[in-house]
Amino acid sequence: MPIISFQDVRKTYDHVPVLDQFNLTIEQGEFVVLLGPSGCGKTTILKLINGLLKPDKGVISVHSKALSEWDLIQLRRRIGYVIQQVGLLPHLTIEKNICYTLNLIKASKDDMNKRAKELIDFVGMDESYLKRYPRALSGGQQQRIGVARALASDPDIILMDEPFGAVDEVTRRSLQDEMLKIHQKLGKTIIFVTHDIEEAIKLGTRIVLLNEGRIDRDYNKKSFVLTKERSDYAEHFFGSKDFIAYLNTISISACLNKVMDISSNHKDDYPSINGNLSILQGIQRCIETQHNTLCVVDDQAHQLGYFSINSIYHLL
Ligand SMILES: Nc1ncnc2c1ncn2[C@@H]1O[C@H](COP(=O)(O)OP(=O)(O)OP(=O)(O)O)[C@@H](O)[C@H]1O
Ligand SMILES: [Mg+2]
Repeated sequence: MPIISFQDVRKTYDHVPVLDQFNLTIEQGEFVVLLGPSGCGKTTILKLINGLLKPDKGVISVHSKALSEWDLIQLRRRIGYVIQQVGLLPHLTIEKNICYTLNLIKASKDDMNKRAKELIDFVGMDESYLKRYPRALSGGQQQRIGVARALASDPDIILMDEPFGAVDEVTRRSLQDEMLKIHQKLGKTIIFVTHDIEEAIKLGTRIVLLNEGRIDRDYNKKSFVLTKERSDYAEHFFGSKDFIAYLNTISISACLNKVMDISSNHKDDYPSINGNLSILQGIQRCIETQHNTLCVVDDQAHQLGYFSINSIYHLL
C-alpha cells in the first residue's frame, strides 16, 4: 500500500489550476525528489500532503486514509515539514521552536530539552544556540533549525522544501549525508524539493520532474538518468547534468576489477587512486594521466584491484 497517494487531484488558486488530474503514489521508504522550474507546483504538492491546503477535487491519502478523515494534529505529528521560508517563530527561543510539535503533544520538559540538544547537535550547531531567538541566527543557521524542528517528533514522513538553499557548501554536504543516513537507517519516507540537480541525484531513490503541474518524468534514479527517451523539456532542463551527477555518486570501489591479468612487476606502472573516490574522478584521472587503467587502493594504500573505463559499463 502506498504511504501517500494523489488521485485525480485538482488544485486552483483564484480559479487558476496549478495541479489538474494529478496522480502520484509514493511507497513507504522512498526518497522522492521533486524537481521543476519556479512556479510549477512543488510547494503546493507538499502543502497538500500535510493538509495545509485542500484540493478542489480528488483525494489525497496518507497511510491509506483520506486527509479529510485525519485529525490534522495527529497527521502533522507524523509528518515533519521543512518549509521553504524556514518560518521560525520569532518570539520563541530556538529550543522552543525545535520542540514546537512536541509541545503540542504535551511532551515533558526534560524530554523536549534532551531532544532539542540531540537535534541541534545533529544539524551541526552548538547547544548554546538553544537559548537564542531566531533573529540572532544567520539565514543558514535558521535553515538548519528548520530541519531540526521537522525531525523533532520522529515523523515517518519528512517533507523538505529546498531545505539547504541558504546553507554553505560544506555544511550542506554534511546535512545531505545525514539525511541519507536517516533515510537508510530509519526507513523514513522523504519528499524533497530542490533546484540543485546534483543534490537531487545524490539523495533521491526516485526523481520526479514537474512541468506546470504535470509529471514529465518519473523513474528510480538509475532509470531516470539512463533511460534515453526523454521529452525536449527534460532534455532542456538537464542537459548532461544528471548523468554527470550520477557518475559522481558511484564509488570506484563499486566497479573494481579484481581479476585483471596484470603481472605484479608492472603494477607500479599504473597510477593509483583511492577507491572511495567517484567514478567521475576515476575517469578524470584516466584522462589526466593518459592511462586506461588505474590501480585502486584503500586509505592505507593497500591495493584493492583495478579500475578502467570499461569496468563502469556494467554499472550503467
Ligand atoms: N496563495 C496563492 N495564491 C495565488 N497563487 C498562488 C498561491 N500560492 C502559489 N500560487 C501560484 O501557484 C503556482 C505554483 O506555486 P508553488 O509555490 O507550488 O510553486 P513552486 O514550484 O514551489 O515554485 P518555487 O520553485 O518558486 O518555490 C505559482 O504560479 C504560484 O504563483
Ligand atoms: Mg516552492
